[in-house]
Amino acid sequence: MNPNRKLITLDEFTVMQTRQFSQATGELSTLLRDISLACKLINKQVNKAGLADILGAHGAVNVQGEEQMKLDVYADEILINVLKNSADCAGIASEENDDFVAFDDQHSMNSKYVVMFDPLDGSSNIDVNASIGTIFCIYKRVSELGKPCSKEDFLQKGENMKAAGYVIYGSSTMLVCATKLGVNGFTLEPSIGEFCLSHRDMKCKEDGKIYSVNQGNTNKLSDKLRAYLDYCMEEDKETNRPYSHRYIGSMVADLHRTLIKGGIFMYPADKKNVHGKLRLLYECNPMSFIVEKAGGVSTTGEQRVLEVQPQELHQRVPIFIGSKNMVNYYLENYKED
Ligand code: AHG
Repeated sequence: MNPNRKLITLDEFTVMQTRQFSQATGELSTLLRDISLACKLINKQVNKAGLADILGAHGAVNVQGEEQMKLDVYADEILINVLKNSADCAGIASEENDDFVAFDDQHSMNSKYVVMFDPLDGSSNIDVNASIGTIFCIYKRVSELGKPCSKEDFLQKGENMKAAGYVIYGSSTMLVCATKLGVNGFTLEPSIGEFCLSHRDMKCKEDGKIYSVNQGNTNKLSDKLRAYLDYCMEEDKETNRPYSHRYIGSMVADLHRTLIKGGIFMYPADKKNVHGKLRLLYECNPMSFIVEKAGGVSTTGEQRVLEVQPQELHQRVPIFIGSKNMVNYYLENYKED
């Protein structure tokens, strides 16, 4: 590393951003710091997953009937504990838990933010050492301060979100964070244990050459969707087709690539998953907020993901997300009638 290079840590960066607003209290920055601390603890366990006796199934089944991995449980507990001790969190909802958790101590009840997260996304990749991630988002509560937060705080439209981010545990560990000011990426510098600014003002390319979908589901898709996949595979030099196909099976990793290289990622509804597979509150909304703030587009095929009014905590929605021109082309030519 160049010794003269000035490293800017996540903390320094958020404080600098906060200073741009005279009204800002710094509570959002504190929350981001707490979440990044939890993710550093998760990262430590993820890094030694092959060494410690933490690989394999935990034996429990989560609310959606999926087998939890030991690291899922660990990541969930770490995030809950850190946020419970946070100065600025009134409660949380997690993909791993049936219901939201309202923190009922006096300080938390006076906090104005709630946090939602998928503690360890792509957990089927843990055993094969492929990238996994943590996804989070922050909302200002709508319930009365001084009382425990309530379900309505969590069932807000994504467009009300104040900040969202993900941490990718990959060849390096990176935190990507979006606020109304834009999207920035911070790489973990392990020797000092700090996330440092490495990708300033990230933008999602308007066009791309990669489509990302579980192609094994093709036979379960509608005729229109199958026609769109045929379009992606068709030869046409002018439009750079056939597109390359990339699919890791970990939304964080697939969308991180989409954000950096451009492309379209989709998990549509199919005959088996009639509402799609991915969760609105913990996966689709935060990722849509990040991609939109970076200039991309995210839709269910019918409406902007961020405009969907959530009805329940574990609701699923179809998603088509990524480079503006690719997603819009899909909408203009292949969306369902
Ligand atoms: P989980 O967190 O339960 O491992 O889910 C992973 C999600 C998402 O990250 C990924 O894009 C998708 O499920 C993969 O699903 P398929 O295996 O059905 O393609």
